[in-house]
Amino acid sequence: MKNIIIFGLGGFAEIVYMYFKQNPSFNVVAFTANESAIKENDLFGLPVVPFENIETVYPPTKFQMFIAIGYSNMNKKRARVFDEAKSKGYELTSYIHSSTIINDGFVMGENCFIFENNVLQPYVTLGNNVVIWTGNVISHHTVIKDHCFIISHVAIAGNVVVEPFCFLGINSTVRNRITIARECVIGAGAVILENTKEKEVYVSRSTTKLDITSDMLKNL
Ligand SMILES: CC(C)(COP(=O)(O)OP(=O)(O)OC[C@H]1O[C@@H](n2cnc3c(N)ncnc32)[C@H](O)[C@@H]1OP(=O)(O)O)[C@@H](O)C(=O)NCCC(=O)NCCS
Repeated sequence: MKNIIIFGLGGFAEIVYMYFKQNPSFNVVAFTANESAIKENDLFGLPVVPFENIETVYPPTKFQMFIAIGYSNMNKKRARVFDEAKSKGYELTSYIHSSTIINDGFVMGENCFIFENNVLQPYVTLGNNVVIWTGNVISHHTVIKDHCFIISHVAIAGNVVVEPFCFLGINSTVRNRITIARECVIGAGAVILENTKEKEVYVSRSTTKLDITSDMLKNL
């Protein structure tokens, strides 16, 4: 069983705490955050310890950490705390929900969190600090590099490379043999058929609204 400290006190930290709690391989012992962000000394009945001196209370020789910070500032905040925790000597744990399908040739770095019902085909590689939310398909030989965040029902075809710090929004699609350059935002429902350039933002059109009301439909 791994004894873990969760960095973060927000919604993502609350969610990962629930998932860790349901898995007997993990034992969450405390939360941590920068001292200036701490308002209460406990969360879910566990101590909240300032990150600045966490190693004196929970030494990295005995405890692992998970950095539960979302995609704000293009994942840069999560990356910064990842580096700070590594320089304190912590091993950053990764989590894969039991319903997710993993195949041969799968490689994953530290501080990854993979939620339920994902399909990761053979030879998928995830770097460090990658979050894969619920129900995505990541096809064979695809590489998702450090600090990326993939929201739900994203379809990534085979041999795709997603460079660091990207955000792929809900229900987006990436065709095979595409490279998504670093720090791109692929908006909800966007369809990417060509390589992208650094820091580009892609959005899809909202669905067309008919100029009638629902009580005017004749066959529903
Ligand atoms: C692409 C996306 C990130 C843009 O986010 P946003 O919050 O709308 O962005 P902003 O409000 O900062 O918009 C920035 C600019 O882009 C423009 N813009 C945003 N979406 C646009 C669209 N679909 N078409 C045209 N322009 C658009 C805005 O009008 C704004 O322009 P302005 O500065 O001139 O006013 C968002 O549409 C999206 O797809 N998010 C992912 C949703 C998701 O998966 N969420 C899961 C969370 S659990």
